[in-house]
Amino acid sequence: MNRQVKLLAIESSCDDTSAAVLVDGKVLSNEVAGQLVHEKFGGVVPELASRAHQQHIVPVIDAALKKAGIRIEDLDAVAYTRGPGLMGSLLVGSSFAKGLALSRSIPLLPVNHMDAHVMAHFIDDPKPEFPFLCLVVSGGHTQLVRMDNAVSMEIIGKTRDDAAGEAFDKSAKLLGLPYPGGPLIDKYAKEGNPQRFQFNSSKMPEYDFSFSGLKTSILYFVQDEMKKNPAFIEENLADLCASIQETIVGYLIKNLKRAALDLGLKHIGIAGGVSANSRLRNAVEELAKKQGWHPYIPDFQYCTDNAAMIGITAYHQFLAGKFGAMADRPFAR
Ligand code: KG4
Ligand code: ZN
Repeated sequence: MNRQVKLLAIESSCDDTSAAVLVDGKVLSNEVAGQLVHEKFGGVVPELASRAHQQHIVPVIDAALKKAGIRIEDLDAVAYTRGPGLMGSLLVGSSFAKGLALSRSIPLLPVNHMDAHVMAHFIDDPKPEFPFLCLVVSGGHTQLVRMDNAVSMEIIGKTRDDAAGEAFDKSAKLLGLPYPGGPLIDKYAKEGNPQRFQFNSSKMPEYDFSFSGLKTSILYFVQDEMKKNPAFIEENLADLCASIQETIVGYLIKNLKRAALDLGLKHIGIAGGVSANSRLRNAVEELAKKQGWHPYIPDFQYCTDNAAMIGITAYHQFLAGKFGAMADRPFAR
């Protein structure tokens, strides 16, 4: 192909409004506007999220185009997140994309958000070799995905209840920390003893995960200790964070290792918001080093929700001729 492919990608599945511009699969800009409005509610409030997307979407897209030096009339296609996610949030991105596609007579590229988290590994070098086993850990999902080529994703394990990010956020909430608590647990854990407290994690069949038992185990433990000493959390915050983080990371790594050994896969990686966790990043490096495997750890900017990962997935769909239609529902899978 001689002509360049210029794409605008929009991500609005949860509480981050993001836009990216890619030329021939190279990311020229990746703008993200977060939403602080949810902090005081201890979780994302869907109605507030969609209203904030509505406020952010035009300035964020404007900034992404300006930074990339690309005009709206130069675009060859527009990509958007077509779920999974919150309906009111998805509607903002998909409606904008459809309006733009209609007015400019350019094709639409609907992208699956979870596939895009894995595809974030294909933005920069070194790109994973196939077969590739990726642990995708976000606020809404926890999946083990096997990729045998650039367009096949097979989910070989998933959570049966909470996602890993939810386990972090709900544990943080029990400790009185604001939403999203995952990054705060990571921060306080750096000063704590990860072996100080032991919590239960449940073994699931195949390569599945379950985090609800862990949450209950932390809740009962903290409640008991608080009865004896009302300042228990305050006095032991770092050790609590380090121990909770160690339990979650240990559990994730155990499943990743078992699947890789069983299936004989030597290229392993992590993706999704929780892959920003410093202990998880180290643990994957350590595991790969011990086993002689190749670890793939995404750049921080591509761990949490961003439009660059939507753009790289859309670019491969564009090359494969996989376009969407104006009548597509804004939500899939
Ligand atoms: O992928 P993401 O941005 O959004 C979803 O698709 O859900 O993931 C957000 C999740 C939240 O649960 C957040 O607490 C978690 O990723 N997270 C972390 C860290 N950074 C983000 N969890 C643990 N440690 C971190 N450093
Ligand atoms: Zn995500």
